[in-house]
Parts: sequence; structure tokens; C-alpha cells
Amino acid sequence: MQDLDFIVRAAKAAFAAIADPDALEQVKARYLGKNGQITALLKDMGTLAAEEKRKAGAAINQAKAAVEAALIERREAIRQAALSARLAEEALDVTLPGRSEAQGGLHPVTRTLERIERLFASIGFAVVDGPEIETDFYNFTALNTPEDHPARSMHDTFYLLEEDGSLAEKVLLRTHTSPIQARYMQAHAAKHAGQETMPEIRIIAPGRVYRVDSDATHSPMFHQVEGLWVGENVSFADLKGVIADFLRRFFETDDLKVRFRPSFFPFTEPSAEIDVAFLRGTRKEGWLEIAGCGMVHPNVLAHAGIDPERYTGFAFGCGPDRLAMLRYGVNDLRLFFESDLRFLRQFV
Ligand code: DAH
Repeated sequence: MQDLDFIVRAAKAAFAAIADPDALEQVKARYLGKNGQITALLKDMGTLAAEEKRKAGAAINQAKAAVEAALIERREAIRQAALSARLAEEALDVTLPGRSEAQGGLHPVTRTLERIERLFASIGFAVVDGPEIETDFYNFTALNTPEDHPARSMHDTFYLLEEDGSLAEKVLLRTHTSPIQARYMQAHAAKHAGQETMPEIRIIAPGRVYRVDSDATHSPMFHQVEGLWVGENVSFADLKGVIADFLRRFFETDDLKVRFRPSFFPFTEPSAEIDVAFLRGTRKEGWLEIAGCGMVHPNVLAHAGIDPERYTGFAFGCGPDRLAMLRYGVNDLRLFFESDLRFLRQFV
């Protein structure tokens, strides 16, 4: 049957021309589908006489089988081609040099902060937080710092500007972590107002602080850790004990030289600065100031709503960057904040 041969050849050619599996199924329908050419021939057989029908049926079924075989073959070929393409595309060249993951490490100041937090946590201090953009009120006023105190001057403090360049209404980058004390005491007093006894406050507050300052021991951004212990009968002796114990454990030595030097802070009375002796290489021994401290000023307690007749407390603010300098023997504070990997890698 001329017609059948033609259909089989046309089907094979059509299949061969197609590389897309979906398109192949559509072309299949043209021959084998409900309205396909071969299906149509089978339907037409109804009109034939019995003998003719038998012959035609056999021939058409043979052609149908040939088209189906060609279809299956083409399907498989397309599948194989897609697989080969994918294998080629995803091939790995195992001879290429490896790409190793860079290994990160904690910054020496972060390690120092974590160490300080651990040591204070071991004697019952909770770690608290506060905002870096602070109001003039919490940074100064609540801490008993008078309007004309030099620390308020534009020279030391980064004030924030409005979009039009005018000075924002007394909003600044905190110059120390001490405002966290004021905020915490106020919230604590409010929470326990009306109670017979206010539970003790024992906190440290680590964080970034900002001042217009830059030299070997000062950077415009640096860190402080504030400490505060308020309760009944908290004394300067407790302050000395806590600080001395902390420093010995921090530096892992019992014969550390520490001195408390009388000083002044508006928010403590009496006040002191804490120096640690250092001896590095050929340099003579010297003292490095690492903290300010004192007994919380009655005005500061009263400002927060705590009765200064009944409760006392000590506070300190230490410079963890300086502690890190001493611990690691670094002689310029700014190295910590320049992000030079040659420097930072040494601590990993
Ligand atoms: N805030 C002070 C500063 O930045 C440090 C300080 C001194 C904090 C005495 C205190 C303190 O809590 O009691 O210079």
C-alpha cells in the first residue's frame, strides 16, 4: 500500500526532525492520536469487504507498529541526548585546584568582651544593653552632669544633625555606657515600686561609645563595659574586691599591680580611676588607666527613683579595648579598628 509506506516514512522524518520531548508527543498525535492519519485509516476499513478488510487491517497494523517503534526510538534518543548534555554541563574537573572556605575568627575585642561577660556572670552580674543613639538627658543630666560640664561641649561629643543641618534636639552618640545605668536603675525602681525591698541590681553593660578623639590610646569609636551593683550596704570595699578579683582572673595572675587613684566623676562620690601596671619588652613599666569607678552619687540614685538613704551602690566603666591591648601586647588602639587582616589573623 503506497499510502501506508508514505505515512510511515513521513512519520519517521517528522520524529527525526524533533529534539524536544513535548513537541514529539504532539507530532505523535498527528499519526497515532484520535484524529491521526493511521487511526483514520483504521476507521475507514469499515466500508471494505471481509477479505479486503483482513489484508488492509494487517497492513495498517504493521504500519502502526512501525510508527510506534520509530516514536519509541526517537523518545529514547532525545532522552539520551538530554542526559549527555546534562552530564557534559555538570562535569567536574577534579584536577582543578580546590576552593577552600575562608575560616573566620572572633575579633580580639569581641573575645575580650565575651571574657569579661563570662567572668562577671560567674559572680552574678547580668548583661544588659542600651541605645547607642542617646538623649542628652540620659547621657548627662540623669548622671548628675551639670549643663556647663566640659564633656557636654561640641568638642568631645558627636551630636546628631537634622536633615536641614541644624542640631537635633539634644540627640547624640553616647559618649559612655553610663546612661545604661541610669535607664536600668529607673526601670528597675519603677518595676519594684511599692515593694517592701527593692531587689539588688547587679549588671554589666558592654557596648560601643563615641568621642571626638584619636591617638594611640584613643579611637573615635571604642568600647566600654559599665558595671553597677546597687543594694543595701554595698560599699567601696566591695568595689575594690570585685575589681581586683576580676582583673586577676582576667589577666590570669595573682601579682597584678592595680591602683585606685582618686578622681572625679559627676555621677560618683567618691570617685577613682583604676590603673594597671604594664611591662612590655624593653619599655619601662608604666600605668595604663583601664577604668573609672566610684560610689553611685546620691543624686543619680534619686534621679532614678531609688532612695539614697537606704540603698548604696558602686559603678565602674572600664575600657575593654585597653584590656585587650594589655592582654595581647598591642601598643596602638587604632589597630583594632582598621580591619587589617594581617593584624587580626594573629588572634584567631
Ligand atoms: N563614664 C565614665 C567615662 O566614660 C567612666 C565611669 C567612671 C563609669 C565612673 C562609671 C563610674 O560607672 O562610676 O569616663
